[in-house]
Amino acid sequence: MGFVQISTREKIIELLTEAGDGFVSGETLAKKLNCSRAAVWKHMEELRKEGFELEAVRKKGYRIKGTGDKVTKNEIRYGLGTKRLARNIHYRETIDSTQRLAHQLVQEGCPDGTLVIAEQQTGGRGRLRRSWYSPKYTGIWMSIVLRPDLPPQMAPPFTLIAAVAVAQAIEETAGIVPEIKWPNDLLIGGKKCAGILTELEADTDRIQAVITGIGINVNETDFPDPLKSIATSLSLASGKKVKRALLIQRILEKLEKYEEIYLQNGFAPLKILWESYANVAGKKITAHTLKGDISGSAVGITDDGVLQLEGEDGQMHAIYSADIEI
Ligand code: BTN
Repeated sequence: MGFVQISTREKIIELLTEAGDGFVSGETLAKKLNCSRAAVWKHMEELRKEGFELEAVRKKGYRIKGTGDKVTKNEIRYGLGTKRLARNIHYRETIDSTQRLAHQLVQEGCPDGTLVIAEQQTGGRGRLRRSWYSPKYTGIWMSIVLRPDLPPQMAPPFTLIAAVAVAQAIEETAGIVPEIKWPNDLLIGGKKCAGILTELEADTDRIQAVITGIGINVNETDFPDPLKSIATSLSLASGKKVKRALLIQRILEKLEKYEEIYLQNGFAPLKILWESYANVAGKKITAHTLKGDISGSAVGITDDGVLQLEGEDGQMHAIYSADIEI
């Protein structure tokens, strides 16, 4: 019974969303949902309680006024095609960092697939202790807790898997193909539109949690000064506003699918997909590593996701973590 109720409401949201600013009559909804008009009205009341802004006008019908520029928990939930990811959602209007809360939830024993998402971060974190600009209502700032039963040495490809999921979801929802800059940057026209921060909680032999932090500049129309020259947003690049809830859903679905492939068959089957978005192979690069800089030519990545770099002295280097300058 519960399932039937949810899928009827899902269908209502779908029909109203398809109609955009237009109205859908109660009669049409009742016909399509195979229920009475009174039942439609009851579903509308329930949806309103869940936070949807629905307008009802006599003789015209219903329309969705949307949720302003907000992404609600329910918008993420309805129509989401995942089995495990985001079944448990922690939504915040403002937070210091979704990554920080995700770590706390892991300590409290949260389930695999837990999603932490916020409209704004006041202390968003990037790699290498950099800060991450996370203004309100424009981007996607989220952390996903994955709890695979794996040894810690199998964790590094999770960054690459997330990068592929994000790149592909951007391509499908915004119609632009981003480039992946190993290991965790997504670029459009050489400017950064998204970043991934993967953090690990592990015992010596087992992963406790992989916390995948994803930050995407979606509908920003401008950036403050030092960022202006190096950052872009999907809407600046495509010229249109992108529906954030849809992008979030597509990312979660792809991340779940690719994680399952990785768990069953390793990174090798995902490598080709990763390479189709990657921008380093064959290029002259400098890898800034903790042990110093290595310049040379990027050969590609291994089946474990490690970057292979042929140094200027002809020696092959395996790069596990670095900042890449192209
Ligand atoms: C990077 O490119 O350096 C990684 C950026 C990761 C930013 C995201 S936004 C959501 C999550 N919470 C954080 O504090 N950081 C990550």
